[in-house]
Amino acid sequence: MKRALIFDSGVGGLSVVRALRAAGADLIVDYLADTAWLPYGERPDEALRVRIPALLAALSAVAAPDIVVLACNTASTLALAETRAVLPVPVVGVVPAVKPAAAASRTGVIGLLATPATVGRAYTDRLIAEHAANMVVLRAGSADLVRCAEEALAGAAPDPGRIRKALEPLLDHPKGAAMDVLVLACTHFPLLRDALSQACPGVALIDSSEAVARRVIAVARPSSASSGLRLGDAFLTQSGTAEAVFRGEGFRAARAVLPDHPFTVEPLQGV
Ligand code: DGL
Repeated sequence: MKRALIFDSGVGGLSVVRALRAAGADLIVDYLADTAWLPYGERPDEALRVRIPALLAALSAVAAPDIVVLACNTASTLALAETRAVLPVPVVGVVPAVKPAAAASRTGVIGLLATPATVGRAYTDRLIAEHAANMVVLRAGSADLVRCAEEALAGAAPDPGRIRKALEPLLDHPKGAAMDVLVLACTHFPLLRDALSQACPGVALIDSSEAVARRVIAVARPSSASSGLRLGDAFLTQSGTAEAVFRGEGFRAARAVLPDHPFTVEPLQGV
């Protein structure tokens, strides 16, 4: 069976893992979460551009994936090319779902909810210019929502006040009342879908996870044995509550590795 390595700063990539499972992908999935550097949306671009490819190269040398998924908009809109340059396998990125959002909007007003880094990226500007040039695109960046999603998966009910606060730049914008589609442009945010839906009723929430799952299957071409998704190991760059989250999700083990740069990885004891 082929192996996919899913990468995110934290638990956000689980939204992609769940989409892969729903799509019936015949893959073994390992996961690398750079929890020591979470949230990425507050880290300097230059540092991330060096760290992300280095982390993935170090872990890939041990985990031997057939495909790597940058299940993080903040990383993909910044370091997709750099990561592809150092890995010998295909790398699939996750970028804001602006195109389907623009196609779904009837009012011509769409929202983009992402990390503070992703909302301001040139990559995001290009996506909007290409697919939503004739629309009003309202943008909001929140690192707190990333923390909120981490806490929610660890068992804490999302606080409606924090959710509302993150959506404020959109909902309180003069054109906010006309917004009918909201792009969840951070992989953590689909994990808060219910709370976000309650905070903006009537607004369609769109994310990239299903499209990414389809793309991963198309690129990885898993065998047709049809045994479905199997979860392997979750690796974290720092111990913490996320370890229990990954175990609860069904990963075989969750362990802290790669604490510093240059990274060292203990050999695995085979899945
Ligand atoms: N899940 C990530 C994304 O899709 C980033 C979260 C963070 O800021 O660490 O953008």
